[in-house]
Amino acid sequence: MRPTLALLIGFWLLPSSVFAVDYEHDVRTLLKERCISCHGAVKQEADLRLDAGALILKGGGQPVVMPGNSGDSLLIQRVLAEDESERMPPEGARLSPDQIAVLRAWIDRGAIYPTDEIIPPRPADHWSFQPIQRPDVPAAMQSSWVRNEIDAFVLADLERRNLAPEPAASPTALLRRVTLDLIGLPPTLAEQQAFSEQPDLTAVIESLLQRPEYGERWGRHWLDVVRYADSNGYERDAEKPFVWRYRDYVIESLNQDKPFDRFIMEQLAGDELPDRTLESRIATGFLRLGHWDDEPADPQADRYDQLDDIVSTTGQAFLGLTIGCARCHDHKFEPLSARDYYSLVAVFNPLERPQAGRTEKTVMVDDVEIYAWREPDAIAPETYLLKRGSPTNPGERVTPAVPAILVAHQPAFAEPDEQTSQRRLSLARWIASAENPLTARVLVNRVWQQHFGQGLVTTANDFGLMGSVPSHPELLDWLAHWFMHDAGWSLKKLHRLILTSQTWQQAKTPNSLVRYRRLEVEAIRDSMLAVSGQLNPQRSGPAFKPPIPAAALEANSDKEKVWQASPEPEASRRSVYAFIKRGLVVPLFESLDLADTVSSCPQRQVTTVAPQALTLFNGEFSIQQATHFAERLRREAGDDPIAQIQRAWQLALCREPSSAEQELMQQFLREESLEQMCRVVLNLNEFVYPE
Ligand code: HEC
Ligand code: HEC
Repeated sequence: MRPTLALLIGFWLLPSSVFAVDYEHDVRTLLKERCISCHGAVKQEADLRLDAGALILKGGGQPVVMPGNSGDSLLIQRVLAEDESERMPPEGARLSPDQIAVLRAWIDRGAIYPTDEIIPPRPADHWSFQPIQRPDVPAAMQSSWVRNEIDAFVLADLERRNLAPEPAASPTALLRRVTLDLIGLPPTLAEQQAFSEQPDLTAVIESLLQRPEYGERWGRHWLDVVRYADSNGYERDAEKPFVWRYRDYVIESLNQDKPFDRFIMEQLAGDELPDRTLESRIATGFLRLGHWDDEPADPQADRYDQLDDIVSTTGQAFLGLTIGCARCHDHKFEPLSARDYYSLVAVFNPLERPQAGRTEKTVMVDDVEIYAWREPDAIAPETYLLKRGSPTNPGERVTPAVPAILVAHQPAFAEPDEQTSQRRLSLARWIASAENPLTARVLVNRVWQQHFGQGLVTTANDFGLMGSVPSHPELLDWLAHWFMHDAGWSLKKLHRLILTSQTWQQAKTPNSLVRYRRLEVEAIRDSMLAVSGQLNPQRSGPAFKPPIPAAALEANSDKEKVWQASPEPEASRRSVYAFIKRGLVVPLFESLDLADTVSSCPQRQVTTVAPQALTLFNGEFSIQQATHFAERLRREAGDDPIAQIQRAWQLALCREPSSAEQELMQQFLREESLEQMCRVVLNLNEFVYPE
């Protein structure tokens, strides 16, 4: 063979990834997955860090990369080593030939990395672990645009980048946007009429915040974060008795605008508060929402799984920390040790699940039956660090403490009173204190994310080293500081500030901070019910069961008994009251991306898959609502197609049809029924993607 031909063949035999190697997508991702746990900011074996291009080139005691020459690079020699005591990584699978080829290609092409790459700081210097201070509000040049502090920060940032703000959305678009945002329903015809006569958006915001539907909408956001469901999961998937009282408690607390620091304390320690009430004790249902196995093969391991559910959820929900990763080994990427983890286990270890065999019991308080754990004894059991997470391998004894990286001095843990260990109360006070660097940042970011479609920090449950960095760090800190010190932890004040900003009221374009985003399944379903005229406004109480198509029940051994759907009027209540069975999620909810029911959900996914179109267009629920919608149009608009189309648009999209739309629909109605038109309207993009 002539050399050129050999070269050509060799060329084609190389893995294709070689030719498209990209530092950020290929190299950094690979190193992050397989190397950074030992060669990163938290741990530096052989003094070597591989978590930034500049550090890779610097090497440890010696250079590990020779740009242009992968063969002579120690890094490559060590991943290729045949001798197991030499080979990197020392644990887990070997790197695959493709992965090694990626590293080689990157080095052979000069080991180039972006010059502006941020070198991850030492863990103690990480931004979210620093105390929250209030940055000065910047003085922006085009200050006539600025309505409040949010706008000032955003505009200053735009000006730094030589950009201008996007124009405001139209008043009618804003009415629909703000109504869906705050209460999860479209504005009624009367509300649209009133607004057209007096287009005062601030007044609308105010009145929406006073509506009970506000708590139903925003309560659901919190239920996502706390892994709410109505059943236990696992094999038997038994119903959690009276768990809906916790759901109602959340809705009610938001409607009352309970200060969020109090809301946190009630959920973690509502039974230990000096001024405890029935309500604050219902709040501790938070601790019992997790999935658990009522027939565990290994009861001891199961006990630690249940404690893990509480520790992990507490870490993510309030602190934005993935502490659960430190259960079996020190966290590989965050400065969180197994000791930190078991010190938190010690806080919850006194809790006991009331149960008789497999059957869960409730706790009686003031003659009401509530779903909570209890502490049977004020003297806490001892807690040990479990080596490799194994209950049969206890290590040193640990006492309650908070993650060491977050504090200069451990907060004092109270002594037991006559009834409980008081450990959760001490933890709750620390979490909800203004000194905690994480709680307010995490919460403010969650609220921002719901309003804008994306958080200032895009990883809402992870503010650690592995989380994303804030897009507007000063704004985030200003908001967190303001929220605690000026707004008294009031969510409604935070909503007002955000919604009255020019920033939020901008038109949705690829450049504005407000994102186009599909409504959550609850808001889609509730909007369909509202538009069809069927929405049953009954609030609170036990959950209803939406119908499940027979085909979806087929696989179940007792398909008659497993799910008894509620009659239609009951099943036309708002989605937040729908029963969530972990092992059998209603297909409409599942296909439209209901939150994960097992662990804390930081943000709804928005997938686009074929079953969604089928559910929304051909599903029983959609067809039923289209039928009701058509009846309503006939009732309210008579038989005139023009009037019917006009009203359909106004109800569903809150605007007049354009003349092209009017014409198209008239043509459609000459061949098809009004029911079919209603199906089309409920399936318009604009219906589920509000401007
Ligand atoms: C579980 C921990 C661990 C992981 C994961 C790991 N390493 Fe190492 N690495 C070590 C230890 C310990 C040493 C020092 C002892 C030695 O040289 O074997 C080391 C040494 C090295 C050295 C030699 C540095 C020198 O100056 O002698 C290189 C190069 C290296 N690792 C590359 C990698 C690469 C590349 C990966 C990922 C593909 C990786 N390592 C993953 C633990 C790890
Ligand atoms: C139930 C126990 C358990 C939990 C929980 C756990 N791990 Fe591990 N992990 C292990 C074991 C066992 C190993 C292998 C031995 C070791 O490194 O200690 C391991 C190894 C690792 C490694 C090294 C792999 C390599 O190739 O070098 C990383 C990285 C890691 N875990 C990350 C995580 C993260 C991130 C989490 C949380 C999402 C987590 N682990 C939670 C048990 C666990």
